[in-house]
Amino acid sequence: MAMKITVIGLGYLGATHAIAMAELGHEVIGIEPNPKRLGDLQNGLIPFHEPGLPEALQKVLEKGNIKFKENHDEESFEADMHFLCVGTPQLPGSYAANTEYLHAAIDALAPYLREDAVIAGKSTVPVGTAAELTAALAAKVGFVPHLAWNPEFLREGTALEDSLRPDRIVIGVNDERSEELLRKVYEPITDLGTPFLVTDIPTAELVKVAANSFLATKISFINAMAEIAEVSGADAVKLAEAIGYDERIGNKFLRNGIGFGGGCLPKDIRAFMARAEQLGVGSAVDFLEDVDQVNLRRRNRVVEIAQSELGSLSGKKVLVLGAAFKPDSDDLRDSPAIAVAKLLLAAGANVMIHDPISLENVNAQHPEFDTEQDLLAAAQGAEAVVLATEWREYRELNPAHIGAVVANRLLIEGRNALPVADWQNAGWRVIALGRNVHAAAN
Ligand code: UGA
Repeated sequence: MAMKITVIGLGYLGATHAIAMAELGHEVIGIEPNPKRLGDLQNGLIPFHEPGLPEALQKVLEKGNIKFKENHDEESFEADMHFLCVGTPQLPGSYAANTEYLHAAIDALAPYLREDAVIAGKSTVPVGTAAELTAALAAKVGFVPHLAWNPEFLREGTALEDSLRPDRIVIGVNDERSEELLRKVYEPITDLGTPFLVTDIPTAELVKVAANSFLATKISFINAMAEIAEVSGADAVKLAEAIGYDERIGNKFLRNGIGFGGGCLPKDIRAFMARAEQLGVGSAVDFLEDVDQVNLRRRNRVVEIAQSELGSLSGKKVLVLGAAFKPDSDDLRDSPAIAVAKLLLAAGANVMIHDPISLENVNAQHPEFDTEQDLLAAAQGAEAVVLATEWREYRELNPAHIGAVVANRLLIEGRNALPVADWQNAGWRVIALGRNVHAAAN
C-alpha cells in the first residue's frame, strides 16, 4: 500500500532511495538544501553518474509521485515515514565520522514530526548514534519519537538495482510501530522473497560497518598476498582464483590492485576504529589499521614500479587511465586512481589523466592535472600507461592502436583487468600488481 514519505538528503544514497521508493509506488518528498543538486533533480537530472537512474527519475516524475524541496513544510507533517539519508563524512584531522548533518536533519524535521510517524536512519553511523538522535529529538518535540535504523547496502554503479532487489533488508527497531511501517514500506520488495531481518538498533547500526569492514578486509587480504607474490614470483590473480573456488572464501572482492576507495569503505573502517576506541574496545578492530595501511601501500607500489622501470620520473609523461574510484561512477572521493596520479606528480612525472566520464569533476576538483577526453590524444608521447580504473573502454582497448602513439610501451596494470597476453603480443611490457607478469600471461 502506498505511503507518504520524506527522504532527507539527496546525495547518492538519498536520491537513489527516493527514486526507488517512488518506483515502488510511494508518494515521495525529497528534501535537499544544496541548490545545484536540488535544481538538477527538480529538472529531471541526476547530479552524478549512475546507470539507469536518470530514466527511473523521468518515469516517476511523469507518474507524479515524487517531488523535491529545499526544506520541510506543512506537507512533511502528513508523511508517515521519514528516511534520513544525509552524509556522515570523515572528520578532518580524525578517524571519526561527522554526524552533525544527522543532528541538523532531525532539528529541521522536529517541527513537522507527527507523534505516530516513524523516522528511519539509513546513513552509515557509529553504533550508538540512533540513541543520541532519539534523545536529542525527544527533548525538542516533547515525546519519544519512533526512530529506527535501516542500513543501506547499495553500491555505486548498480545503485538502483541494489535498492530494488537487495540481498537483504535489515531494520533495527525499538517499537512495534516502526516495524509495522517499515514492513509496509518494503512490502513490494519482500513479496519477491527478499530476506527481511529485524534486529535491535545497535545491531542494525553495526551491520553496515561490519559488512563494509569485511569487504575492505577481503580486498586488503588479497593485496597483502599480492605483496608476498611480488617478491616470491607467485601470481596473486591465480592465487585468488584458486582460493576463491572454496565456497567458504568465495571469489568476489578478491581482485588485487591499487585497492579500495570511494566515499564509503575507507571512511567507514576509520570511523569504526574511532568508535571502538571510544567504547574501550579499540583493540577488537586494530586489524583495520593494517587493512587501511595495506590498501594505501598499493598506491605507492605503482610509483615504485614506474621508477624502477623508467628511473627518475622527472618530466616524463605518464598516462593514468581512469580517475573514478571504480567504473560506472564519476565519484572521485578517495579515489585510488587520483591518489596514484598525485603520487606520480609528486615524483616529478608529467601526469595526464583520461576517464570516460569524470574529467569535468577532475578539472574542477584537481586542476593540477592535465586531462584529455580523447584517449589517443591523451596517450600521445606517454612513457608509461597506468590502468587505475577498469572501465570497459579500457578492457576493450586495442593495445596496438594506443601502442602506436606512445613513446614507450610500458603498461602498469593496477587493476588486473586487461588481457595481458594481447598487450604483450602488441609489444607492451606489462607489469601487473601482484603478478610475475614479465614472463607470465593470462
Ligand atoms: C560499498 C559497498 O560495497 C556497498 O555494499 C555499500 O552499501 C557502500 O559501500 C556504502 O557504504 O554505501 P561502493 O563504495 O559503491 O560500495 O564500492 P565497492 O563496489 O564496494 O568498491 C569499493 C572499492 O573497492 C573500489 O575502489 C573498487 O575498485 C575496490 N575493489 C573492489 C577492489 O580493489 N577489489 C575488489 O575485488 C573489489
